[in-house]
Amino acid sequence: MNEIVTSAMTFDDRIATREARVGIVGLGYAGLPLAMAFAEAGFEVTGVDLSDERVRAVQEHRSYLVDVPEERYAGLDGRLTATTDYAAVGELDALTICVPTPLSKTRTPDIGYVVSAAESVAANTRPGQLVVLQSTTSPGTTEEIVKPIFERAGAIVGQDVFLGYAPERVDPGNRRYTIKSTPKLVAGVTGECLRRTELLYRQIVDEVVPVSSPIVAETAKLHENTFRAVNIALANELALMCDRLGISPWEVIEAAATKPFAFLPHYPGPGLGGDCIPVVPQFLAARVREYGYSPRLIDAAHEINTSMPGYVVGKVADALNEDGKPVKGSRLLLLGMAYKADVHDTRESPSLEIMRLLLERGGEVRYCDPWVPDLELDGVRHRSVGWTREEVDAADCVVLLTSHRQFLDEPLWDAAARIVDSRNVVPDGPSVHRI
Ligand SMILES: NC(=O)c1ccc[n+]([C@@H]2O[C@H](COP(=O)([O-])OP(=O)(O)OC[C@H]3O[C@@H](n4cnc5c(N)ncnc54)[C@H](O)[C@@H]3O)[C@@H](O)[C@H]2O)c1
Repeated sequence: MNEIVTSAMTFDDRIATREARVGIVGLGYAGLPLAMAFAEAGFEVTGVDLSDERVRAVQEHRSYLVDVPEERYAGLDGRLTATTDYAAVGELDALTICVPTPLSKTRTPDIGYVVSAAESVAANTRPGQLVVLQSTTSPGTTEEIVKPIFERAGAIVGQDVFLGYAPERVDPGNRRYTIKSTPKLVAGVTGECLRRTELLYRQIVDEVVPVSSPIVAETAKLHENTFRAVNIALANELALMCDRLGISPWEVIEAAATKPFAFLPHYPGPGLGGDCIPVVPQFLAARVREYGYSPRLIDAAHEINTSMPGYVVGKVADALNEDGKPVKGSRLLLLGMAYKADVHDTRESPSLEIMRLLLERGGEVRYCDPWVPDLELDGVRHRSVGWTREEVDAADCVVLLTSHRQFLDEPLWDAAARIVDSRNVVPDGPSVHRI
């Protein structure tokens, strides 16, 4: 078997002595914290990203992600560098691909970034290199798409280059579960690919869990996120049903959650957001449709979850109706455009759809989000207003969409004429309408 040519040491020795150079392709929410973790573990780490802006930010030790405060660079002793030049791949012993896998307009997975990154890596790979795909992706991607890319470049996988899959489980903003404390699934195209992948991640993760094949690890990741999407849909459907029954879904869930076994509480909300939970089940759905299987539960969950923004807008109309006002011309203040509390991320955020629907109905819509100073919606730029008593007081209806800490720590609810609370965080009051 070929080994790294620049050294007489084996891959294992280079990992053990921290002489191995590690690369991360794609310095986003998944890739940058991973790069930091390897650098903190003592490895020289090279980030490769096509974005000049992100590469410059890493070089200048600037933070652009909630999980990577600037102070973290201080503990790295300069072991993390970044470049836009794929030639750097030729210097690496091991690298992880963390590029985006969004949904295309037809709601099928767009693995174009994975293909492009793998082609660029394959064009620059060196003998003995370990390449691990970490992007969330369609079942079969590692062996059916990425492996052939290396083969076309002339490498024998399992001999010249080692290929693994290790799904990302990061939960941005979660302080309890870090890269280190979240068990890591790993798989390899061959036994040696698995062994090396496992060895690499054992350097930064407490518990590494090997599975028999990349497609099992790929599908496990999709199942984790589908589990969440389906359970949130169940909670959302409960909210829709309780609305008909005239009771509070929140009270029902709280009551059900007193059962100490076989119940895991999930809560209703304005819809699904982020680039994982709303998107990832579609990867599984699209793949099994190719086999003639209809993923009924995933489809039903998607239908319920995507109906929630319209339901919230209906609640806004009902709240305004109490004061004899139409949506058209009413001043509406949306609280929280990020998809979850205390993060910057607005990808797939249901708040955007709610803003769009209210603007379409002629509402005079403003938003307040301490994490999202400005945003673009359908070609129009919107800026966050401040979290002030004047703004709350001036609104005909305040719509709580994301429970950022600032809204809860500095409550201004008494200044609001009407409040629609989609997260059950505003204290009870005559002007409060919950979903
Ligand atoms: N964001 C999350 O919380 C999360 C959680 C679990 C899994 N994931 C998965 O991790 C993967 C990465 O997601 P992310 O949120 O980090 O994305 P991101 O958009 O934050 O970052 C991706 C980075 O990849 C770079 N990039 C794109 N194409 C490239 C290429 N060909 N070569 C080099 N760099 C390239 C982009 O410039 C960007 O900086 C996705 O598959 C996603 O589904 C993300």
